[in-house]
Amino acid sequence: MKSLMMTVAVLALGATASMAQTVGFSQIGSESGWRAAETTLTKQQAEERGIDLKFSDAQQKQENQIAAIRSFIAQGVDAILLAPVVATGWDSVLQEAHEAEIPVVLLDRSVDSDKALYLTAVGSDLVHEGAVAGQWLVDTVAGNDCRVVELQGTTGSSPAIDRKAGFESAIEGHDNIEIVRSQTGDFTRAQGKEVMESFLQAENGGKDICALYAHNDDMAVGAIQAIKEAGLKPGEDILVVSIDAVPDIFQAMAAGEANATVELTPNMAGPAFDALKAYMEDGAEPAKFIQTESKLYTQADDPAGEYERRKDLGY
Ligand code: AHR
Repeated sequence: MKSLMMTVAVLALGATASMAQTVGFSQIGSESGWRAAETTLTKQQAEERGIDLKFSDAQQKQENQIAAIRSFIAQGVDAILLAPVVATGWDSVLQEAHEAEIPVVLLDRSVDSDKALYLTAVGSDLVHEGAVAGQWLVDTVAGNDCRVVELQGTTGSSPAIDRKAGFESAIEGHDNIEIVRSQTGDFTRAQGKEVMESFLQAENGGKDICALYAHNDDMAVGAIQAIKEAGLKPGEDILVVSIDAVPDIFQAMAAGEANATVELTPNMAGPAFDALKAYMEDGAEPAKFIQTESKLYTQADDPAGEYERRKDLGY
């Protein structure tokens, strides 16, 4: 009886061990509140599923991400999650993972490599996000002249490229709206503030600016500070529209200092792990793109409540 029970226990342990997976996660860094939340949620999702997550913070450098992926391959992980800092330059390392038969799932940003080199990509329609922000401005200014300054994300990253294109497509044909200055703030609060200061200086102390479009909320929050320091009222003298829907932008919206944001969920890992599970256990090929929602929030959408709902979620 005793030996039967031991056999059952050993079998049970064996079953658990074969289900456990090791997944490498190459994260860009921690440039924004949104990024911090994505890291927190990925770790939580892995823990809930009994996945051993090997986390690597690339400190914003593509070469660190490439080195991390090579190290994951050498360690023989079961799968790799990659949030790629820029869109180009991934062919060789993705080919190496492919040859090692390690599925790669892209999170939140896209790459320009052959789609066959990764299993799937989880993310939003980044062009659509920009278009939603642009359409909000078109509707809000309702035909009045509006000179826009734009804070772009990290140069060469897919959200910077696509959010710019989406916004431009939405304002196309609306001659009353013009982007008069556009520069990168690298998705950070500090650079958002710094670049906005230079925009304000160049645009008659900000009096010639009607709206700010920032490719993420963190840059918008930095810019809001710069606008206030210039003696203007953000949200009134200068309209502010951005992307992410982090708690701090809802706080700014509740105070009337920001006007609109487009939500990007930080839970990319949940759908990614689901796709990996189905693929590894049942051989189910996921769609090449697993799209998350892009919802617009304005000051009419209970920003104080949204802040409360999100403030403890790891942002
Ligand atoms: O790739 C998603 C973008 O990266 C988020 O909008 C931004 O906050 C982050 O740094």
